[in-house]
Amino acid sequence: MTQPTYESVYRASVDDPEKFWLDAAAAVDWVTPPTRALDDSTAPIYRWFPDGELNTCVNAVDRHVAAGHGERTALIYDSAVLGIQEHISYAELQERVARFAGALAVQGVGKGDRVLLYMPMIAESVIAMLACARLGAVHSVVFGGFAPRELASRIDDSRPVAVVTASGGVEPKRRIEYLPAIEEALRSSEHAPSAVLVHERDGFETTVADARERAQGQGGPAWLSWAEAQDGVAPAEPVTVAATDPLYILYTSGTTGKPKGVVRDNGGHAVALSWSMANIYDVGAGDVMWTASDVGWVVGHSYIVYAPLLAGATTVVYEGKPVGTPDAGAFWQRVEEHGVKVLFTAPTALRAIRKADPEGDFVKQHDISSLQALFVAGERLDPETYHWAAKVLGVPVVDHWWQTETGWAICANPFGIEKLPIVAGSPTVPVPGFYVEILDPIGEPLGPGEEGNIAVRLPLPPGTLSTLWGNDERFVSSYLSAFPGYYATGDSGYIDENGYVFVMGRTDDVINVSGHRLSTGQMEQIVATHPDVAECAVIGVNDPLKGQRPSGYVVLKTGAQITQEQLREDLVSLVRSQIGPVADFKDVAVVEALPKTRSGKILRKTMRQMADGEQYTVPSTIEDHSVLEALHAVLAPKR
Ligand code: COA
Ligand code: AMP
Repeated sequence: MTQPTYESVYRASVDDPEKFWLDAAAAVDWVTPPTRALDDSTAPIYRWFPDGELNTCVNAVDRHVAAGHGERTALIYDSAVLGIQEHISYAELQERVARFAGALAVQGVGKGDRVLLYMPMIAESVIAMLACARLGAVHSVVFGGFAPRELASRIDDSRPVAVVTASGGVEPKRRIEYLPAIEEALRSSEHAPSAVLVHERDGFETTVADARERAQGQGGPAWLSWAEAQDGVAPAEPVTVAATDPLYILYTSGTTGKPKGVVRDNGGHAVALSWSMANIYDVGAGDVMWTASDVGWVVGHSYIVYAPLLAGATTVVYEGKPVGTPDAGAFWQRVEEHGVKVLFTAPTALRAIRKADPEGDFVKQHDISSLQALFVAGERLDPETYHWAAKVLGVPVVDHWWQTETGWAICANPFGIEKLPIVAGSPTVPVPGFYVEILDPIGEPLGPGEEGNIAVRLPLPPGTLSTLWGNDERFVSSYLSAFPGYYATGDSGYIDENGYVFVMGRTDDVINVSGHRLSTGQMEQIVATHPDVAECAVIGVNDPLKGQRPSGYVVLKTGAQITQEQLREDLVSLVRSQIGPVADFKDVAVVEALPKTRSGKILRKTMRQMADGEQYTVPSTIEDHSVLEALHAVLAPKR
C-alpha cells in the first residue's frame, strides 16, 4: 500500500468530511458508535457525531488498562521548582481518577454540572480534569496567574457546583497562595459553589482549616482537603455522555472585558485529538510527549492532558520555567531523562533559552537523541528564533498555528502523514478538515500573497468550539457573522503560491504576551477607572523576549496633580490586582491627546505601527494631525 500524501488526505477531508471523520472516529471507544458524522440542522452551529455516546475519561485512561497496558507510564510529574518527580502508571491513574471522581460525586457533582479548577502544574490537576470527564461533568480550568476578579467572573458565568484547587503554585521567586484568592473571588461572585476541595501542599501559609474557620457561619461552601473528601468514598464508575455533551469550558480573552467561555464537546474532541496525535505529531502508544505549557491554557488541555492520554502515550507535567529553574538546560535535561520524542512549547520560551544560552552549550551537555521534533505554537515563530532552534537542536522545528477556539492546529506540518519542507515564518499548510481562505474586508477571496482576514469555511472540523457557554448569539456574532459561511479567526495573513500559510497578527484587540492571550480592551477598561485618567489606549508593542507587551498611553484629567511615576505604580497594581500578574502590564506613558478619527475611534493600529517603527498610513478620517505628530516623539523611541 502506498503511503498517503498530505495532498490526498487533505482532499479526502474536504471532499467527503462525513466519511473522513466517521473513519477517524474508529480510533475512539464508543458506548454507542456514531452512525453519522455531521449534524448541520442548526447551521451555522454544527454538531459532530450527533448519535454517538462515549466517556472521554474511559478513552484516555480505562481502555489502556483494559487492553493490558496498566503498567505503562501515563504521566510524569516533574517539578523543577521543588526538585521532585513522580511516575504514574495508567493503572494508578485510573485508580486515582476514579477515587477523586467519587469524592466529587459525594459533593453533588453529576453529569452536566460544572466544576471550576484553579490549579498549578501538578499531577492532581490532570486527575481532577479526568475525574470531571469521568462523571460527565464540565470542567473549567482557570490559569493560576489570574487574579480573584477573573476567577469570580468565571464562577458567575459557569456557575460551578464545586471548586477544585491546591494550596498554591510555586513561581521561581515566590509562592502564590491560592486559597485567599479563592476566598476573595467567592466574596465577590454572586454564584456560590457548594464545596471547595483543596489539594494541600507543604510550604503554604493558608490551610484548609484556616479557610474553613473563616467561612464558618457565613453560609458559604464546605472547605475540604482532598484527603478528607476522598475518605471512605467509593470510586466512581464512568458516566456515558452524548458525543455532543460538553467536556469543558475554557475562558479566553476577547475584545471586551468579558471573557469568552469556549465550549468543547466530548466526541468531536476525542476524535480530533486522537487523529492529530497520529497525523500531526506522529506520537503513539508508549511514546513520550512533553508539552511545556500550563493546564490553564488550551495547549495544556489538549496536549498535556487529553491527546497524549487518548493515544496511550506518556505525558510530562512540568512545574518550572524554561530558564532559571535552575538554568537554560532544563528542557534538554528532561528530554534526555524522560526520553521525550516530541517537545511542544511556545516561541517565547525558546527566546528566553536563547538569550541565556546563545550558543546552545546546554544542549551539548545532554543526549537528546530521543527527540524527533520540536513543535511550537501560541504566537508566531519568528524566523530568527526558528533558525537558532533548528541549528542548536538538529531536529525539525515545527511552527503550528491554532487558537483556544479551535482546540487543535488549523495549520501545521503534518509529520505523521508527510514531512513537508519547513519554511521559516510559516506554520506550513492547512490541517485536513480546515478549509482556510484569505478574505478581504467584504468577504471576497484574495489571491496568493495577498494579506487579509484568515477565515475557515464552515463547518469547522470536530474538536473545535461548539459554542460559547450559554451564549449561542455571542458565538455567532463573534465568529460567524463577519463572513457568512466562514469562521473568522481574528488573525490576518496570507497564503503563498505554494499553499503555505503565513499568520501575521491579530485584527482585533487581542495580544499575545509570552504566549499568553490577553485583551488590551480589558486593560483599557481597568486603566480608565483610575480617578486621574481622562482617557487611555493600551496597545501591544513588539517585545524581543515576550513577543508582545502591553503598553498604556494615558491622557490625564485637567488639573490632575499625579506624578508619572505614581501613576505608573497605581496602574500597574490596578491591572495586576484585577487581571493578575500574567497581564504583565508595566509600560505607562502620559500623552497630551490620543489620535482619533472624526467619529472618535482611537487609531490604535497606527499607534502600534508607530511604536514598532513600522510604516504607517494616516487614515483620511483623522481628526487632528498634530496629535499624531506629538505622539511620534513618545512612541517612536520605545523600540
Ligand atoms: N501563577 C501565578 N503567577 C504566574 C504564573 C502562574 N501560573 N505564571 C506566571 N506568573 C506570573 C509570574 O510570576 C510573573 O510575575 P511577576 O511580574 O511578579 O514577576 C508574571 O506572571 C509574568 O510571568 P511570565 O509571563 O512567566 O514572565 P517571566 O518574565 O516571569 O518569564 C518566560 C518569561 C519567557 C520565561 C515565561 O513567560 C515563559 O516560560 N513563557 C512560556 C509560556 C508558555 O509556555 N506559554 C504557552 C502558552 S501555549
Ligand atoms: P490562544 O487562544 O491563546 O491559543 O491564542 C491564539 C492566538 O495566538 C491566535 O489567534 C494567533 O494570533 C496566535 N498564535 C497562536 N499560534 C500561532 C502561530 N503558530 N503563529 C502565529 N500566531 C499564533
